[in-house]
Amino acid sequence: MRELALHILDLLQNSAEAGALRVELGVEEDPENDILRISVGDDGRGMDEATVRRVLDPFYTTRKTRHVGLGLPLLAAAARRCGGKVEIESAPGVGTKVSADFRRSNIDRAPLGDLPQTLAIFLAGHPGLRLVYRHRVGPRDLTFDSDEVSARLGAVGFDHPLVADWVKGYLSEGLLNLQKG
Ligand SMILES: Nc1ncnc2c1ncn2[C@@H]1O[C@H](COP(=O)(O)OP(=O)(O)O)[C@@H](O)[C@H]1O
Ligand SMILES: [Mg+2]
Repeated sequence: MRELALHILDLLQNSAEAGALRVELGVEEDPENDILRISVGDDGRGMDEATVRRVLDPFYTTRKTRHVGLGLPLLAAAARRCGGKVEIESAPGVGTKVSADFRRSNIDRAPLGDLPQTLAIFLAGHPGLRLVYRHRVGPRDLTFDSDEVSARLGAVGFDHPLVADWVKGYLSEGLLNLQKG
């Protein structure tokens, strides 16, 4: 995959498919230690130990719509290519946390891509799900909590085009300020 945002979308979709009501997305960029870490934590149905061991295998999926599950194996391969790794912590009935580390300056490290657009699309497609997104670059950070936005929107949802545009604009500007350093 060319953009990390697509891997992030896949992780968010896994959480939503696992019935999560709350999903925490973390993106931590640590230029000093040359690390980029993506983590997605959820309160979905979770997995037992045996399942966790199997999900990095490209042929494992519990989905009925496709024969192979590729999301996690592709993410693990992308991380490995840039000197990083994927870790999965999960407990049945409690939730799951997937973390992926990348060497930030590695030549094979894909760019983050259009995260604002990706998150706006995800939110539009998952009404009722709370997304808390924290992005840190060195000492600066940005937090977006979809529940805080919903509280101000009232009955209007993230699937409204004006709201989706606002989310995109808000996050794009926030990320631009983060990268200014
Ligand atoms: N956050 C999660 N919570 C519970 N189960 C998960 C989660 N993420 C992945 N899984 C399990 O791992 C399987 C493989 O995931 P993935 O590699 O993304 O492929 P796919 O989503 O196409 O099945 C899923 O079908 C699901 O059973
Ligand atoms: Mg998936």
